[in-house]
Amino acid sequence: MRGFVLLLALVYSATAQHQALIDYLERRLLAIEQDRISLWQEQTTRYASELRELKQQMVSQLESLDKEKETLRMTLDGVGTRVDRVERELDYLETQNGAQPCVDVDDKLIEQQVTLVKEKQKAKYFKLTCSDMISSIKAMKILKRVGGPKGMWTKDAGGASGKVYIFNGTAEDTINEFSTVQDFTRSAGFSLSTDLKIPSSWKGTGHVVYNDHVYYVNQEEEIKVVKFDTKNKSITDSVVFPVQDHVPVYGLNPETVMDLAVDEEGLWAIFATRQNERHISMAKMDSNSLDVEQMWDTNCPRENAETAFIICGTLYVVYNTKQVGRSRVQCVFDVNDLVTNEEAPLVYFPKRYGFHASLKYNPQEQLLYAWDDGYQILYKLSMKKKLEI
Ligand SMILES: *[C@@H]1O[C@H](CO)[C@@H](O)[C@H](O)[C@H]1NC(C)=O
Ligand SMILES: *[C@@H]1O[C@H](CO)[C@@H](O)[C@H](O)[C@H]1NC(C)=O
Repeated sequence: MRGFVLLLALVYSATAQHQALIDYLERRLLAIEQDRISLWQEQTTRYASELRELKQQMVSQLESLDKEKETLRMTLDGVGTRVDRVERELDYLETQNGAQPCVDVDDKLIEQQVTLVKEKQKAKYFKLTCSDMISSIKAMKILKRVGGPKGMWTKDAGGASGKVYIFNGTAEDTINEFSTVQDFTRSAGFSLSTDLKIPSSWKGTGHVVYNDHVYYVNQEEEIKVVKFDTKNKSITDSVVFPVQDHVPVYGLNPETVMDLAVDEEGLWAIFATRQNERHISMAKMDSNSLDVEQMWDTNCPRENAETAFIICGTLYVVYNTKQVGRSRVQCVFDVNDLVTNEEAPLVYFPKRYGFHASLKYNPQEQLLYAWDDGYQILYKLSMKKKLEI
């Protein structure tokens, strides 16, 4: 019996010790687990915040990359335009000077030559025979209203015949010719006129009449300038205008792809191309051969441009707003750089009916022939010398 009690006591103590061991082990395990959990939590938080930082860095890097891309694109655009211009000038020079010997010349030299020859050309072409610029619109006269909202009317800008021509509409093939302005004003409609039927229809309002020839713009696949003899009623000549990718030259007159103008120096073309599509370009043409003699990219925007005219080698672009306001000359470009936007007076036209569909300058009379919503209007200009500021 004693022995049994002893054994029991031993067993009991062993069990108690065993339990203590188990308890101890359990506590340790729990502690380790908690350590690991908190370590794991800490790591996760750190990873998360590192990830967030990385993301922010990536976003800002992407943003700056985007910006760099944009600057690069703009630089490339600028370079593209310059290359186009130099190419055009070189083309032009080649036609002027015949074939060039094939030699390696570095770009700087070419550029210098281009500038040099350009200066010479300028001097050659633009010993302008006149030096006038607009100072204001002195008077306005509304003659009558014939025809539709868009059209063009003009006197022969060469001056000898005194005949008046009406181009009613933007895509027709019959011009109305009146012997004098008086005949036009007293005619009921077109009753006192002679019909001039041209072989192909005109496009837009960009025509001129000069020394008994109509120069009209025709558009099929290409833009053509057609020269039509009003005396024997036949086409004298016709050329494809030597630039590609035309866009309508004036933002507010989309039918007019290209405009022609006559001033004291002769025939000009006013146009725009996709390569320089925000601005208006111009070219001097030979009215006899229809050759293009020189081209310029002007700084005058196409947007909100209504029409334009040229006086003594200076382009005057007339602007309006989409909700018809008062037309005004707001951009000028002088081929001799004698008139700048800062120097040119801000010329406002008197309040009118709608838009100017066309404005044609007559160098003999210093009048503008305007077509405004079917009304035929004359603006009398007062002039000053270009260098009197
Ligand atoms: C002028 O053209 C318009 C359309 O633009 C037409 O309605 C009108 O009859 C034409 N006028 C004359 C006199 O032919
Ligand atoms: C029309 O006149 C011009 C000269 O004025 C001449 O060159 C041309 O051959 C004439 N055309 C016709 C069809 O008579």
